Amino acid sequence: MECCLLTVCAASVALLFALLYFLVQRNGTCTLIWHAFINERLYDTLTRSTRPQRMLKAVQKNAIRGNPESVISAIDYFCKHSEWAMNVGDEKGCILDSVVTEVDPSTVLELGTYCGYSTVRIARLLSPGTKFITVEFNPASAEVARKIIAYAGLQDKVTLVEGASGDLIPQIKKLYGITTFDFIFLDHWKDRYLPDIKLFEEYGLLRKGSVLLADNVICPGTPEYLEYVRNSPRYESRYYPSHLEYTKVEDGLEKSLFLG
Ligand SMILES: C[S@@+](CC[C@H](N)C(=O)[O-])C[C@H]1O[C@@H](n2cnc3c(N)ncnc32)[C@H](O)[C@@H]1O
Repeated sequence: MECCLLTVCAASVALLFALLYFLVQRNGTCTLIWHAFINERLYDTLTRSTRPQRMLKAVQKNAIRGNPESVISAIDYFCKHSEWAMNVGDEKGCILDSVVTEVDPSTVLELGTYCGYSTVRIARLLSPGTKFITVEFNPASAEVARKIIAYAGLQDKVTLVEGASGDLIPQIKKLYGITTFDFIFLDHWKDRYLPDIKLFEEYGLLRKGSVLLADNVICPGTPEYLEYVRNSPRYESRYYPSHLEYTKVEDGLEKSLFLG
């Protein structure tokens, strides 16, 4: 009888774990709750460090100084084999690379630097003389991003600005001598995409032909932004299907061409 009870308990626990594993692999909300809250806090407590600090260590240990490709690979390896992190990731990163290469911009803005993964991806593809501003409001992430960008040898190609996008956009022309942006990568908190695109319009930061690329339009999702760019006559918009970074959960990028 005791043996039977033990078997039932073990089977229930195994079933519960299997269900949890399935949910974390396939369901966007469960994936984000697990990786970005439970797992991160657990590691932070156990290691007395932060995820960005651990990512920086992985770069310093495994990447070659001055070699952006090796920095990107070291971060992707860390995120696939040690800890998930909210970088655009390798799969969507390839789409980002192809859009940057196609636009070949002279002026670039990135909203949401985090640890500098996408910054390194973008900066390594830019032609000499391109102005590239990346914005991050979390000082601890910005500090790590500066170190990772410098480790990749790209510090002279990027201006990292610490602050909130909504405060910076209205001042960007005056502070950085920019007239308009050729390419903008939106990858900050999702509820800021719509207000910030409206700020770009209001402050004349877009020209006919400017390209906006927005990450995570499905997971966590940016429904108001998508509705806006897909229905406004001022944009021609296209969805690039992919997956949430380092998972099998559906996600994608929205590329929007400003028509003037
Ligand atoms: C998804 S992560 C960026 C990932 C990064 N682009 C990459 O692929 O490596 C989002 C980042 O945006 C920052 N952020 C969120 N809202 C912001 C805002 N309004 N202004 C500036 N930074 C913001 C967060 O602190 C976080 O580090």
